[in-house]
Amino acid sequence: MMGTKEGSEGGAKTRGADSASAKDPSTLLPSGKRQIHLTGFMGSGKSTVGRRLAQLLNWSFIDLDEAIAERAGLSVAEIFDEAGEAVFRALEDQLLLEISVVATTHTESPGAVVALGGGTLMDPDNRGVCSAIATIVWLRCPVDVIKERSPEIAGCRPLWGTSGDLEQRLSEREPGYRAAADFAVDAVGTPDEVAARVIAVLGDAG
Ligand code: S3P
Repeated sequence: MMGTKEGSEGGAKTRGADSASAKDPSTLLPSGKRQIHLTGFMGSGKSTVGRRLAQLLNWSFIDLDEAIAERAGLSVAEIFDEAGEAVFRALEDQLLLEISVVATTHTESPGAVVALGGGTLMDPDNRGVCSAIATIVWLRCPVDVIKERSPEIAGCRPLWGTSGDLEQRLSEREPGYRAAADFAVDAVGTPDEVAARVIAVLGDAG
């Protein structure tokens, strides 16, 4: 998470999609679902792929970490430092609920892509919320690729830790991502390639 990420969108509000030319969610998602939630470990590309995916579909994009940072007026790293992980998790739960309200009440708007945080779905209540409103896609990324991305992102991720910490956390988390996700997609490649894979996998399933 890049602290208070550039291009912050404004809490759980959605933006950006022109409904006239947006892809109809029903062509990709099961009936009643209008959001794609991207899950996966830190560094797997949820935010960059999510932004690209939203552009390709002409849907709104919501970055959960950005929404949290904006609500708190602090970067994610600062929230961890100043208030602790429990406060971050409480904000994460709250913003996710707000996003779910947007999904269930703004049914006339086009779809939305949501980049979750790497830990969001480790909470069973959050898994329930996401699976009720969204198709969940796991961006599955091998540990060596995540480590290669480390110089760009580690400093902004309070839970990154050492290389050993990272491997351990990833192996602890993977069963949770696998269990929560409707689909897994190979996250190695450019944002365009990975976003195209997400569209292909959802289109094939539809
Ligand atoms: C976290 C991942 C981060 C951010 C926070 C905690 C985690 O998001 O939510 O630092 O527990 O894995 P990214 O996955 O976007 O880095």
